[in-house]
Amino acid sequence: MNEAQPQNHHPDETGPSRRSVLWTAGAAGAGLGLGGLTAGPAAAAAPRAAGPSTTAAAPSAKGKTMIGVPFERRSTVRVAIIGLGNRGGSMIDLFLAVPGVRVVALCDPVKEKTARAARKVTNAGQPAPAVYTNGDHDFERLCRRGDLDFVYVATPWDLHFEMAKAAMLHGKHVGVECPVALRMEELWKLVDLSERTRRHCMQLENCCYARNEMRVLRMAHAGLFGELLHGAGAYLHDLRDLMFDPTYYEGPWRRLWHTRLRGDLYPTHGFGPVANYMDINRGDRAVRISSIGTPALGLAAYRKDHMPPNDPSWKESYVGSDRTISLVQTAKGRVIRLEHDVSTPHPYSRINSLGGTKGVFEDYPARIYLEPDQGNDEWGDFSRYTQWDHWLWKEHTNPPGGHDGMDYMLVFRLMQCMRLGLVPDFDVYDAATWTAPVPLSDRSIRANGAPQEIPDFTRGLWKRARPGVDSEKPEE
Ligand SMILES: NC(=O)c1ccc[n+]([C@@H]2O[C@H](COP(=O)([O-])OP(=O)(O)OC[C@H]3O[C@@H](n4cnc5c(N)ncnc54)[C@H](O)[C@@H]3O)[C@@H](O)[C@H]2O)c1
Repeated sequence: MNEAQPQNHHPDETGPSRRSVLWTAGAAGAGLGLGGLTAGPAAAAAPRAAGPSTTAAAPSAKGKTMIGVPFERRSTVRVAIIGLGNRGGSMIDLFLAVPGVRVVALCDPVKEKTARAARKVTNAGQPAPAVYTNGDHDFERLCRRGDLDFVYVATPWDLHFEMAKAAMLHGKHVGVECPVALRMEELWKLVDLSERTRRHCMQLENCCYARNEMRVLRMAHAGLFGELLHGAGAYLHDLRDLMFDPTYYEGPWRRLWHTRLRGDLYPTHGFGPVANYMDINRGDRAVRISSIGTPALGLAAYRKDHMPPNDPSWKESYVGSDRTISLVQTAKGRVIRLEHDVSTPHPYSRINSLGGTKGVFEDYPARIYLEPDQGNDEWGDFSRYTQWDHWLWKEHTNPPGGHDGMDYMLVFRLMQCMRLGLVPDFDVYDAATWTAPVPLSDRSIRANGAPQEIPDFTRGLWKRARPGVDSEKPEE
């Protein structure tokens, strides 16, 4: 199977134009008092709280660990969604499709989007949700509600941190779209806040729940690849037309990040699954990253060919590498290669490979070479390994929603964990680890590829083996 086809990747791509308000990242950031987040490259590249010599140490240890902490058991999970654009406006369908979930509050300053999402809730037979459309800060009022268990954040990147923080400070568990935050000190603050508030803060990395990734995960844990040695993951997705489309995103926020950061802006789709294969934070640890980047030519070349001379994009200078390649080394010496490229022509790929002493898997297209099953230097057929499918994929053979069902699997499983009072499959330590390449790859590129330490967000608890996405099916 071919995961996450580009046309599925943007479920609303062919929908009507929705943009009525120009919410640039800069404008929204300024409104939230987040001006520093959208400041120049130096500010983005140089974490204030943790300089190079201190990145591996926790700047402050304020609470007990959140590793292994279960959710409170509840029969119904009451969900709020902040950000109802392409992502939030389609993920709502999946929250409404999962049993035992009620969508009780919605927030987006664009009133039509909130109204459309509210209609989805009532069409699903649930009571009308509370709506928060009153400007940049209305999400804070939403977070103060007493009748919420979980807040889902699907807004532009520079807003993620403040929204996750507000949710936790007001006692809600929070799941955030990729990347969970952009700066190293923000990642540490999320770890601190999760520990202090005893609320889970999770990177909702849907690719960890894709069918191939989950099958490879189970095969890796069953020892079919032998001792694991190397893996690779990526976000290779030609977003040029969408990033220059004046109506697709709510303003040019996504393109503007290519004027600020040089590194891997979106590492979690590739890093999350490979980290799971290798039990990162569950027996192994990502310890350092070195990144190099190509010149940034793709967006300017696209603009030259497609944008009218008076388009505001002509004021922009792109600094982000078209292709960023990073090498991560783990405490056990394994190597993970991460790639990011959204600005040159390329068929969609997350690379998704894993190799060990007994063989190798590579995706796009899926192929496998394992001893003793294959030989003669020829790839084997990955579809012969369906017996290794995760229980979620055996139980839900035709999941609804985009991205070939992985979005539904993520939402279903998370809501199941919340209803049954289970430990979540991933936690704030995974969120921080999978996202750390955003600031660190930028810093490494600016230092000519010099290795950057990846902090031990677990504060030493990474050595302990524990379950993750490779879960046992629970008793309902
Ligand atoms: N996991 C995936 O497969 C996947 C796919 C697409 C997008 N995403 C992520 O989802 C997030 C949103 O992306 P998108 O494509 O939906 O962008 P978008 O521009 O379509 O939607 C963002 C929404 O946030 C709203 N917003 C802006 N400021 C706000 C505020 N202060 N309060 C509340 N709402 C606010 C905007 O009005 C807009 O509706 C990003 O983090 C993106 O990386 C993830």
